[in-house]
Amino acid sequence: MTALIDLRSDTVTRPTEAMRKAMAAAEVGDDWYGDDPTVNRLQEKAAEITGRQAALYLPTGTMCNQIALHALVRAGHFAVCESSAHICGVELHSSAALTGVAFRGLSGVRGLLSAEQVAEALTPDAADVTVVDLVAIENSHQRGGGTPQPLERVRAIAKACQAAGVPLYMDGARVFNACAVTGAKVADYAAEVSAMMFCLSKGLGAPIGSMLIGDSEFIREARRIKILFGAAWRQAGIMAAAGLIALEEGPQRLHEDHAKARILAEGVAELLPGSVDPDAVPTNIVFIDVSGTGRSAPEWAKRLAAEGVRVTMGGPGRVRMLTHRDVSIVDIHEALAAWRRAAAS
Ligand SMILES: Cc1ncc(COP(=O)(O)O)c(C=O)c1O
Repeated sequence: MTALIDLRSDTVTRPTEAMRKAMAAAEVGDDWYGDDPTVNRLQEKAAEITGRQAALYLPTGTMCNQIALHALVRAGHFAVCESSAHICGVELHSSAALTGVAFRGLSGVRGLLSAEQVAEALTPDAADVTVVDLVAIENSHQRGGGTPQPLERVRAIAKACQAAGVPLYMDGARVFNACAVTGAKVADYAAEVSAMMFCLSKGLGAPIGSMLIGDSEFIREARRIKILFGAAWRQAGIMAAAGLIALEEGPQRLHEDHAKARILAEGVAELLPGSVDPDAVPTNIVFIDVSGTGRSAPEWAKRLAAEGVRVTMGGPGRVRMLTHRDVSIVDIHEALAAWRRAAAS
């Protein structure tokens, strides 16, 4: 069998040699006390890049989102977001259990909401029963197909939030992928939101970790909640050392992942016409609609796995693939050959 090509997620990358060396040599201390110099350096760097006052290094993107919700939404109050966002989909149970958030999901176009939709959702309820504490956007929007949020759109949504006095949060798990397409800087997006997060462990290629960003007061409260949630992770500098390299080197190469995703989409579109529009693959996420092929998504996943390619399901009738640092253009052509063999089998 051919070598395994793992397209399940951009989280599957292994640390580079440079990362492993930096991890082995990392200066560390107890992060509970704020004593880990490598964690502190990473937090300072993240604050600097985003142009915000402070940052907090956390184990996962989910924990960033959950801490932000806990800090900004009262139990039984609403958070408004696009209905297929990670924060109200995969994390629905976490948000319910940890904070008691009620979500109002708005349907977007490829994951994007308009400022008008948001403004309407923020219109006060005459009976004061439905209180919205937060609006959350996702950039790039994963389920929407890796769609970057245009900066102007975020500005308009931020304006609608300001008019209603409601904070805006950005799940920027893949915000650097968005920046590589829109040409905006991460600080441009960060300037529009009350708080945001980004993941080091996705396209940037670190083995672990995400950054929660905001003003000092918010991060102070986030740090309290981090400890409340049990994430005082002591000598985390061992991981932060790899995070620093990811932050330094990761953003420049994301356009390569986007080019690989485009080749993948074009190849599958040729094999299965109508299953994917390559023009609608702006970043590193490719959804293939297999509903017209007479085979289910799990069946495709099984056949592709037998041919050496690992994929996941992207909802009913959809196969999901993500490109990342550890798949080459050669691997992408191999993956397309596997699709052809799977189709013929
Ligand atoms: C948009 C988005 N937000 C948040 C997360 C959560 O990140 P983590 O897997 O680090 O918890 C993911 C994970 O895939 C994601 O795609």
